[in-house]
Amino acid sequence: MKVGIIGAGTMGNAHAKGWQKSGAEFVGVSAKNKESAKQLAETYGIKAYDNHQDLLEAVDIIDLCVPSDLHKDMVLEAARAKKHIICEKPIALTLEDAEAMIAACNKAGVRLFIAMVVRFFPQYRAAKAAIDAGQLGELGVIRLKRIGYQPLGDEAWFTDDKRSGGMIVDLMLHDLDYARSIAGEVKRVYAKSIRSTVNDAPGDYALITLGFESGAMALIEGGWAYPPGFFRTGIDIAGSEGLIEWQSDDSQTIKPFLKPQERTKVARVGIPSSSIAEDPYVTEIKHAYEAIRDNKPFLVSPEDGLEALRLALAAKESLKTGQVVFLGGN
Ligand SMILES: NC(=O)c1ccc[n+]([C@@H]2O[C@H](COP(=O)([O-])OP(=O)(O)OC[C@H]3O[C@@H](n4cnc5c(N)ncnc54)[C@H](O)[C@@H]3O)[C@@H](O)[C@H]2O)c1
Repeated sequence: MKVGIIGAGTMGNAHAKGWQKSGAEFVGVSAKNKESAKQLAETYGIKAYDNHQDLLEAVDIIDLCVPSDLHKDMVLEAARAKKHIICEKPIALTLEDAEAMIAACNKAGVRLFIAMVVRFFPQYRAAKAAIDAGQLGELGVIRLKRIGYQPLGDEAWFTDDKRSGGMIVDLMLHDLDYARSIAGEVKRVYAKSIRSTVNDAPGDYALITLGFESGAMALIEGGWAYPPGFFRTGIDIAGSEGLIEWQSDDSQTIKPFLKPQERTKVARVGIPSSSIAEDPYVTEIKHAYEAIRDNKPFLVSPEDGLEALRLALAAKESLKTGQVVFLGGN
């Protein structure tokens, strides 16, 4: 199948690496920033298209790596053209837009994959596999962390909440989705944030608590308040039968998976270390391509993308009102 990418910034380049290794026929790229499209095209020996409409016509799958406020219109356009779609996260900036995108793709009979890459990081996959296999027993307390600096992007679009959705929708969405993928549906959301204004460089730092239907709770920490270059993520999950703990800065493997009743023994979850692990963006693109080619389900459904956005928007609502937001009418 022929594939093209719209957008040649950070994600355009990350996805290009994946397409090159996917077995798909990677034919072209198009971007508003023509120079970035030209460079990406030269790197991969593909064509740089002057406009995305011509690229869309030339492919079977279009991969949207453009600023988040453009996702809706481009997905609708691609669905009208009957192309399968890979779209970077967040699916959209409003629930109405996300629902319209899913409906349009269903109606057109095209596949829509939302690129929630954290689901493809080996540590996060291994932790989920252990949980799904019952190794942690009943989940109780989940702590997820993702802290770094505010990215800018072309034309500094990340700094405009109307374009990126802000830190919670752009960044914390990953862990909101991951928490839901391991613990199920959420009943209530509460959030607190602070905006640092040090050196005129605003950066949000937030804490979100989720109460799940199962009774489990999650504490999700996210921030864009650190200086450029700093990025740290972490997983800390406690269940009735075991614990999982991993921090990005101290180890690239899932750290000891400890069973409380066997504290002297350390059972390691078998995952490759980062030196031999595949780039998660490559894993993600290969997965999406194979699922489209073989008509198999995606690991992350468009509805998962929608639900992650629902959680992020609920957290923003909680910040605005100072109140707990109840989901699902409870
Ligand atoms: N999954 C992740 O880890 C991750 C990381 C960063 C960004 N993202 C998401 O990926 C998307 C892109 O982010 P980025 O960091 O690559 O941004 P970027 O600013 O680095 O690149 C954006 C690209 O889109 C192009 N573009 C802008 N407007 C366009 C238009 N109207 N038509 C065609 N091209 C246009 C720009 O020229 C540029 O090439 C966003 O939705 C963002 O939230 C995901």
